[in-house]
Amino acid sequence: MQPEIRLFLYFTLLIVTAQASLFKLTPKSRRSYQPLYKRVPTPANAGSVSSICSCGYYIPETKQTFTHYVTLKPDALSANNLPDSLSKQGWEISSYELTSKPKNITYTPSNLSFNPSSRALELIVSGGSTNRTSIPSAEISTKINSIRYGSFRFKVKASPVAGACSGMFFYKDDNHEIDIEILTSHIHNGGSQADGIPLPGLQLTVQRLTQSQTLSNYKVLPFDGSYDPTKGYHEYRFDWLQSGVRYFIDGNSTSPYTKFIPNVPGSILINNWSNGDRYWPAGPPTQNSILSIREVDLYFNVTDPSLLRAWEAGCKSAGYVRTCSVAPSKGG
Ligand SMILES: *[C@@H]1O[C@H](CO)[C@@H](O)[C@H](O)[C@H]1NC(C)=O
Ligand SMILES: *[C@@H]1O[C@H](CO)[C@@H](O)[C@H](O)[C@H]1NC(C)=O
Ligand SMILES: *[C@@H]1O[C@H](CO)[C@@H](O)[C@H](O)[C@H]1NC(C)=O
Ligand SMILES: *[C@@H]1O[C@H](CO)[C@@H](O)[C@H](O)[C@H]1NC(C)=O
Ligand SMILES: *[C@@H]1O[C@H](CO)[C@@H](O)[C@H](O)[C@H]1NC(C)=O
Ligand SMILES: *[C@@H]1O[C@H](CO)[C@@H](O)[C@H](O)[C@H]1NC(C)=O
Repeated sequence: MQPEIRLFLYFTLLIVTAQASLFKLTPKSRRSYQPLYKRVPTPANAGSVSSICSCGYYIPETKQTFTHYVTLKPDALSANNLPDSLSKQGWEISSYELTSKPKNITYTPSNLSFNPSSRALELIVSGGSTNRTSIPSAEISTKINSIRYGSFRFKVKASPVAGACSGMFFYKDDNHEIDIEILTSHIHNGGSQADGIPLPGLQLTVQRLTQSQTLSNYKVLPFDGSYDPTKGYHEYRFDWLQSGVRYFIDGNSTSPYTKFIPNVPGSILINNWSNGDRYWPAGPPTQNSILSIREVDLYFNVTDPSLLRAWEAGCKSAGYVRTCSVAPSKGG
């Protein structure tokens, strides 16, 4: 679902002043109150700030404003030139081998494809023999790696093929990481599991900040029959603020995590992988296991001074009034 973005022009002294203090900028003009709710197309240019929403994006659920927006719209990708067309939207494709146990993971660009009939970007974990030593997998990440705080939304459909882990997450390093993961081995198996095997459901983790801390930010949100992640597209979302991390599924929010909240900048990644670990994610899959991405929308702040300067200049030339309000998440 494409979030509908409304352009709010703030004309009161009060609101212009509030906006200005929000962004620590000086209002250029003072006018009488005249709110203008005009729908504008979602800006497509990653990394840059749209000329329409040049002062940022307001998230009503958390009452926070962010300066930057990156989207992923598979419809706008060119199937025969994924690297360039993804790059234009602000994404890069991973190409490396990750040492892992019992099997390595090889993120390979050839395991990423655009499926024109489903209009989805597919991340594929190659099916094959269980005796492989490295499992071809797929991953993309934002080109901007100075993301700190934001609202991150992923409309995806999980694979019914067991043995893969589909992740949508913030990553700086293993101790500054906010995860949404779907383990395709643990979607449709019942509620009771052998020791150590994850419960079926959405795996939600904010990793501990040092290796010596006890992991406490981990819970499994059951796929309790209200929806089947392999049957349709659902919006998985997390909002990361200084005060905590809150997850949403199709707009329904969960209680927030407030411990071990990262405060360092990093990137947003989406991947689909297997290393054959018997607990997480199990597998490797014997057939291709495909994660399908319909849309991604990321609203966030950055720490990179040059990106911030460019944003400030854009907002200034728009007269400090162009903040878009992001429509609340709906679902399915
Ligand atoms: C994002 O950055 C803007 C500009 O510096 C600031 O006004 C806003 O409060 C920040 N948002 C959050 C959630 O930190
Ligand atoms: C795993 O990957 C590492 C790093 O690329 C490599 O040195 C090692 O040989 C690989 N192991 C296997 C079993 O392929
Ligand atoms: C995934 O990558 C591997 C290694 O490059 C390749 O052999 C395999 O055919 C790819 N899978 C798909 C579905 O393209
Ligand atoms: C791996 O298994 C396949 C069949 O599943 C077999 O053809 C192949 O020889 C095996 N390779 C090794 C190194 O054991
Ligand atoms: C979200 O909440 C609504 C209302 O309680 C419920 O009908 C719906 O099934 C929920 N959706 C998910 C994905 O949990
Ligand atoms: C992950 O890979 C599996 C196996 O190839 C596939 O069935 C599934 O759809 C993939 N998931 C995503 C999100 O691409």
